[in-house]
Amino acid sequence: PVLVVDFGAQYAQLIARRVREAGVYSEIVPHTVSAEEISARNPVGIVLSGGPSSVYEEGAPRLDPGVFELGVPTLGICYGFQVMARTLGGEVANTGLREYGATDATIITENVLLEGQPVEQNVWMSHGDQVAEAPAGFTVLARTAATAVAAFANDERRLYGVQWHPEVKHSDHGQQVLENFLHKAAGLPADWNSGNVIAEQVEKIRAQVGSGRVLSALSGGVDSAVSTALVHEAVGDQLTAVFIDHGLLRKGEREQVENDYVASTGVRLITVDARETFLNALAGVSDPEEKRKIIGREFIRAFEKVQADLIAEAAAEGDPIRFLVQGTLYPDVVESGGGSGTANIKSHHNVGGLPEDLQFELVEPLRTLFKDEVRAIGRQLGLPEAIVGRQPFPGPGLGIRIVGEVTADRLEILREADAIARAELTAAGLDNEIWQCPVVLLADVRSVGVQGDGRTYGHPIVLRPVSSEDAMTADWTRLPYDVLSKISNRITNEVRDVNRVVLDVTSKPPGTIEWE
Ligand code: XMP
Repeated sequence: PVLVVDFGAQYAQLIARRVREAGVYSEIVPHTVSAEEISARNPVGIVLSGGPSSVYEEGAPRLDPGVFELGVPTLGICYGFQVMARTLGGEVANTGLREYGATDATIITENVLLEGQPVEQNVWMSHGDQVAEAPAGFTVLARTAATAVAAFANDERRLYGVQWHPEVKHSDHGQQVLENFLHKAAGLPADWNSGNVIAEQVEKIRAQVGSGRVLSALSGGVDSAVSTALVHEAVGDQLTAVFIDHGLLRKGEREQVENDYVASTGVRLITVDARETFLNALAGVSDPEEKRKIIGREFIRAFEKVQADLIAEAAAEGDPIRFLVQGTLYPDVVESGGGSGTANIKSHHNVGGLPEDLQFELVEPLRTLFKDEVRAIGRQLGLPEAIVGRQPFPGPGLGIRIVGEVTADRLEILREADAIARAELTAAGLDNEIWQCPVVLLADVRSVGVQGDGRTYGHPIVLRPVSSEDAMTADWTRLPYDVLSKISNRITNEVRDVNRVVLDVTSKPPGTIEWE
């Protein structure tokens, strides 16, 4: 792989994705790895990410200098560029001149790294320190008004660096810098694509499970749908998929899984109707954390019950179930390995997130993949667009979108309102501009309204459209007024007991995306 060395910026994952978009497989490693550890992974290229620190600071992240002696083509970006400069004997200085945002850069020397690019171009900068002098043996390739050394190269050693961020779309020719580095400087072919990933994963899954039987929990979401389909592609009917209907799903989701998904994959599916159990367990509860815990617990119970049945059945056939599919994605792997503790704001619960004491070996075919890659694979496997293109939906479902106690009646109201909002957003062609749009029922709030000739005393529905890259931060999406108006009219006209629609205009932080 190409190894992306993470200096602690949020940019490492973005770089890894861009490298893959260039058709080259990449993985992220922390900057603390030694040159030997890096070498042991046989990298075909190395990219050093940006980072929030100054190379001068006490405890600023460093890199084992041996990494530059491995003979592996290496590209330093921003902080990574400065680390490379300093480690190899160049000079990094704090001139007090900061560059932030769109900046004009000028190419001053032709080089493979910036090949095919206009001499003047717009790049995205974010730095205080700068490389004042390139190390011996390096040629300066570009400058800006404030930065004399904005890019450099040592072709003989195949070491390159840029002060700007080629991985962000605001850098006009950023992706081409990465592609020049990968394809031209490092000579790597573009052969990482969803077709190859499927073939590779199918082979891996077969090697792991052999003739063993496999269980999978489908949630209706993208990750479990694609991981299950991949495993089915690999081992066919050795796989049994279980779908637990907890009654907190959106309108039409169960049918999508039971009909469209099964039709397109041929997966053998067992649906467990646990709606009543969940409602009974949630009766009288309005505290959000309490609800989450109950939903998580009931999910595990329901799963264990069906699993016990299946295990008994399989054992009777002398063929026990030994494997469990999980839709773990690469960002989860990177973030949980990252170690640095982030505050637990909400106890996120994944339906499909299962108890630890299960006696199963996990099959995780998406462990190396980003979400957009998972979607591409799902499409290639022929899954319904309604599932593959689905926006994120929390495991506890509509249970945490009813502020107040969850009842069958309230779920019915929310399902209708949500279906209208989704349909209108799709009809307006806004799906790609919105990360997700929770629709929330304020079940304990009533307000006075007038409908027809009469006074009403109904509930408000909240629309929470947000734009985001990764759900860690978000901004409220500026939806067109006419679309909002249509949604509002339809909901108040068509959904009983709702007489008001309000818009949530809070970013995250301070608000979270969900209301509970
Ligand atoms: P918040 O509300 O924390 O949500 O800003 C961030 C993202 O996570 C989703 N979310 C969940 N997903 N289980 C999940 O699988 C959960 O318990 C859960 N709670 C929130 C939320 O929809 C958003 O995409």
